[in-house]
Amino acid sequence: MAIVPSRRLYINGEWTEPIRKNRIPIINPATEQIIGHIPAGTSEDVELAVEAARKALSRNKGGDWSRASGAFRAKYLRAIASKITERKSELAKLEALDCGKPLDEAAWDMDDVAGCFEYYADLAEALDVKQKAPISLPMQQFKCHILKEPIGVVGLITPWNYPLLMATWKVAPALAAGCTAILKPSELASMTCLELAAVCQEVGLPPGVLNIVTGLGPEAGAPLASHPHVDKIAFTGSTATGSMIMSTVAQLVKPCSLELGGKSPIVIFEDVDLDKTAEWTLFGCFWTNGQICSATSRLIIHESIASKFLEKLANWAKSIKIADPMEEGCRLGPVVSEGQYNKVLKFISTAKSEGATVLCGGGRPQHLKKGFFIEPTIITDVDTSMQIWRDEVFGPVLCVKTFTDEDEAIELANDTRYGLAGAVFSKDLDRCERVSKALQAGIVWVNCSQPTFTQAPWGGTKRSGFGRELGEWGLDNYLSVKQVTEYTSDDQWGWYPSPSKL
Ligand code: NAI
Ligand code: MG
Repeated sequence: MAIVPSRRLYINGEWTEPIRKNRIPIINPATEQIIGHIPAGTSEDVELAVEAARKALSRNKGGDWSRASGAFRAKYLRAIASKITERKSELAKLEALDCGKPLDEAAWDMDDVAGCFEYYADLAEALDVKQKAPISLPMQQFKCHILKEPIGVVGLITPWNYPLLMATWKVAPALAAGCTAILKPSELASMTCLELAAVCQEVGLPPGVLNIVTGLGPEAGAPLASHPHVDKIAFTGSTATGSMIMSTVAQLVKPCSLELGGKSPIVIFEDVDLDKTAEWTLFGCFWTNGQICSATSRLIIHESIASKFLEKLANWAKSIKIADPMEEGCRLGPVVSEGQYNKVLKFISTAKSEGATVLCGGGRPQHLKKGFFIEPTIITDVDTSMQIWRDEVFGPVLCVKTFTDEDEAIELANDTRYGLAGAVFSKDLDRCERVSKALQAGIVWVNCSQPTFTQAPWGGTKRSGFGRELGEWGLDNYLSVKQVTEYTSDDQWGWYPSPSKL
């Protein structure tokens, strides 16, 4: 068992007791036991963190983060990546203890975290080369170039399903761009983000470049979003909170990027390999205990193979190893909290009361008496008006509908107010291409579901939010583009005739 470190807030490069001295218990969702505490920051602590970030952004005499070269910043990002790799197994254990994801998944996350810091180190260096890119203009007497400049102080608000990875998707590009940041992780899983603070301190990241204020959403997240000296908010979480943040930042005409919920479709045609497709279907919905914004949780399957496929899928789902995340071979752990557990069970009971059928799962696994465990659940006889079809469950629950032709499949797939992701399965690649184009989503997987790469853009449409993380788009999230236009002619501009000539 990993030792749970006792940490304070990380502000201006120092461990800082929260001003109101409050703490939030850390509950291991597999045992329901309190295993430690995190500091509960409030607006007073946010104030200090913003001040520190502002100072770090533009300290005098060239020592500041925003005006340093990309190569200078890349050195720190690489040092962070290598410390994360060194501490991988300890960090993975903390992550699994905190949010309940299987240890193997948490270890995978840590590799992605290190990879993401490395990737943005490269992009920080590339920024030095790209500066002063000329723009060709139609008037010869003008010369123009662009400068890509850091947006400034950024507020990063993140969720609990990939605690350190979601933070990294924001922290790494923000720092690479030359921004300074205040990170507010989820109160349900903040431990690894506080360890990131320890890593930053160890590598000597200049004080104030990254500040970490843990605490409750309304107490620590809201004052960050509304702070007049924070130049941008990047948020991942629920659509309800995202929408609230958007109206807050609107008052200050402050930009924000939002990565919100989803109810993503997985469309399966009649020509697929049943085994391969069934495994991806399970992975697409039950990976990370079903708590993934991009979960392909609406299965839309051709009616001719539905019964055979569902029988296979249900048998396979029943064989998934549900256990304490620390246990060897665990493939499904508990959901993150008691609140989430009750919310998911309520979704299942509402679906039943609305007339749907639970094909498999539906409740607590018999062999686990404690912990917020829920069996992988598949729900059939679903109508498009039902809550289970329309709303994001954020738990291991898949709902199913059948279709007869491609047009109907697309219509069902797009029958959602969300638009984060979608998956299509067929051996006919022309058909896959047609469906990929027709899906209203920011991410489409063909013959797979969920694989995510740091190099490729990530984000949604419709109520799944806007803005793209990862890849070069992730860096652009934290850059502002300035044009510099110079008049180079020796001649008078000549719009107003010179008074001497009148
Ligand atoms: P949430 O959206 O409330 O929390 C996400 C982050 O926002 C956390 O750091 C939280 O402290 C912060 N926050 C909460 N209220 C805030 C406010 N007024 N101002 C600023 N920041 C605030 O999500 P929560 O309550 O943890 O989960 C609720 C539901 O949201 C889940 O059941 C799930 O459906 C969905 N969700 C979706 C995620 C996604 O990646 N799409 C991630 C987490 C949750
Ligand atoms: Mg926790």
